[in-house]
Amino acid sequence: MIIGVPKEIKTNENRVALTPAGVTELKKYGHQVYVQASAGEGSGFSDDLYQRSGADILQTIEAVYEIAEMIVKVKEPIAAEYPLIKANQLVFTYFHFASSEELTHAMLRSKAVCLAYETVEKTDRSLPLLIPMSEVAGRMSIQAGAKYLEKTYKGRGILLGGVAGVKPANVLVLGGGIVGTQAAKMAAGLGANVTIMDVSLPRLRYLEDIMPTNVDTVMSNEYNIREMIQAADLIIGGVLIPGTKAPRLITRDMLKTMKPGTVMVDVAIDQGGCFETSKPTTHADPVYIIDDVVHYCVANMPGAVPYTSTLALTNATLPYALQLANKGWKKACQDNKELQLGLNIVKGEIVYKGVADAWNLPLAQVADHLEITALL
Ligand SMILES: NC(=O)c1ccc[n+]([C@@H]2O[C@H](COP(=O)([O-])OP(=O)(O)OC[C@H]3O[C@@H](n4cnc5c(N)ncnc54)[C@H](O)[C@@H]3O)[C@@H](O)[C@H]2O)c1
Repeated sequence: MIIGVPKEIKTNENRVALTPAGVTELKKYGHQVYVQASAGEGSGFSDDLYQRSGADILQTIEAVYEIAEMIVKVKEPIAAEYPLIKANQLVFTYFHFASSEELTHAMLRSKAVCLAYETVEKTDRSLPLLIPMSEVAGRMSIQAGAKYLEKTYKGRGILLGGVAGVKPANVLVLGGGIVGTQAAKMAAGLGANVTIMDVSLPRLRYLEDIMPTNVDTVMSNEYNIREMIQAADLIIGGVLIPGTKAPRLITRDMLKTMKPGTVMVDVAIDQGGCFETSKPTTHADPVYIIDDVVHYCVANMPGAVPYTSTLALTNATLPYALQLANKGWKKACQDNKELQLGLNIVKGEIVYKGVADAWNLPLAQVADHLEITALL
């Protein structure tokens, strides 16, 4: 198959969808890989590295879209890319169709096959192509939080791990899923006193078993949250209720009960945020202060560490990209239900219920496109 890797053109996006190691794998199976010049630069991969792995470098984005049967990307296509996408072309990337009606219509018009990273789903209902970014954001939340606790940034001026004779900081993690677990591990590793709160008792039991002794677990409810935030120096918001906006767990009135200089990192900001006072910020201007509480609400945290994020993402996407390249999208989706669930739009028809529901558009049967009578 002919695979194209365009350079990401969305503002501040430095990730790339395929590494030189990924090119080597695809070449092993006899595929041709075309990478746009400087596509890997933001993640530390030069054109030369791609060439040495067997890729051909094309100078323009137009040339990449023109030649490729499968486009592998990171972010959803933006308006400048819409006209480049061709009928029957397979586009494998994050789409998040439910948050853009314009993109949905553009891809319907393109008659392309849109396979969305975010809806590839395993039988245990986990989302293997979203997990790596949550891992990055969870770990990064502590790094960012530690920095903004410094006095220069109007934080409390407390070192997460303390030193001999001085108590460490108290880190409160709301939500014990992927983000929360990674955040807790990092904070605990730095020597902080960590508390994880979740509404799921089985999850708390699991975390209690696997976490080091400087991590406690507490049931998440308003009463407990009100109590815990008073002692917290750093609060991480990592809650998720799938398919809905994040619940507002810390309300504006609660800020006054917190210590001045407390830092709140709202990782869940991409789902609206779990603090009432959260509003999305960018890496260029990541924090603001309300009632002496420092708010960090960057919606694309992994974007700040493109090297790690690219490797984490491509480790997860490459096995699927290989299946698509080796078998073609139809056979790959017939054989693998996980990939089949990634199909959102096929040749002008929506085949994913969440997208059809979001924009009140008709839903077509994926089985008809896969030419199978019974779904896997
Ligand atoms: N800002 C970013 O750059 C970035 C990057 C990656 C992920 N995220 C976001 O981070 C959030 C968390 O992602 P995740 O992968 O960890 O999700 P997850 O599903 O693995 O975990 C969410 C956890 O929240 C818990 N929860 C639900 N309601 C709660 C409540 N009221 N109190 C306490 N816990 C509650 C759930 O039981 C679950 O354990 C999501 O909104 C995700 O989109 C943001």
